[in-house]
Amino acid sequence: MSTRPILALISGANRGIGLAIATGLARQGAHVLVGCRDLSKGETACKALRAEGLQVRPVELDTTSTASVTRLAERIQQSYGYLDSLVNNAGIGVDDDPTLTTADRLQRTMSVNVLGPILLTDAMVPLLEASGRGRIVNVSSELASFGLRADPDWAFADFAMPIYQASKAALNSLTLSYARQLRDKGIKVNSICPGYTATEATNYAGNRTPDQAAVVAIRYALLNGDGPTGTFANDHGELPW
Ligand SMILES: NC(=O)c1ccc[n+]([C@@H]2O[C@H](COP(=O)([O-])OP(=O)(O)OC[C@H]3O[C@@H](n4cnc5c(N)ncnc54)[C@H](OP(=O)(O)O)[C@@H]3O)[C@@H](O)[C@H]2O)c1
Repeated sequence: MSTRPILALISGANRGIGLAIATGLARQGAHVLVGCRDLSKGETACKALRAEGLQVRPVELDTTSTASVTRLAERIQQSYGYLDSLVNNAGIGVDDDPTLTTADRLQRTMSVNVLGPILLTDAMVPLLEASGRGRIVNVSSELASFGLRADPDWAFADFAMPIYQASKAALNSLTLSYARQLRDKGIKVNSICPGYTATEATNYAGNRTPDQAAVVAIRYALLNGDGPTGTFANDHGELPW
């Protein structure tokens, strides 16, 4: 049996939860491709990690650009020929941006949170299949859970970012679709919720650190053959869709 390190790709990994997932995976011995729109930001993030001896490499990736996604898939094919774990982490929430029209909020959010994961997943499937143990983790949010939202006593029942919530519900739907579609290729696909986390996205208001938020994503990126597919979970276990 091969003892090569796990090769993982994380989108939106130059900061926040994505960087914490990349760091945590590298600390567990994975070779991590750190996806970033701006390569110089990725270089800066990776420099500190390399000083720790971690195997991290910044790669240019705008998940909403077919050209960017295709270029990266070709590079991974040439350099490695496989990919073990893909974490669709890049995401935005612009519901409260007063400079945007409603149409712009919808278009931007759906582009990054839904189109991006589709483009990236489709481009990486042949590499994940070549791995023989492909794993896809979609970074979603419990704010999108219809089951939780149906409970008026739920802690976030009054929370309202309708476009963001709809985008993550769409991402959860994709998790189920891809899990079914990719099962025969040995690829497991799951959604996770990192919890309310202090990052730029929340103006650092969350009550969790990025390192805490990364734990569940790392667990699902490294699932063994007995692990689930087509599920939605956080640190405490399965979440209702
Ligand atoms: N923070 C929370 O409380 C929380 C809770 C539940 C779920 N989540 C989810 O967790 C994920 C990470 O969130 P975060 O809090 O770490 O956010 P963040 O600090 O704002 O980081 C978002 C990352 O996504 C990247 N990104 C944005 N658009 C992109 C695109 N088109 N292509 C590639 N990368 C792009 C950003 O790159 P730039 O630096 O270039 O902008 C950045 O690296 C998101 O999917 C978010 O919805 C967060």
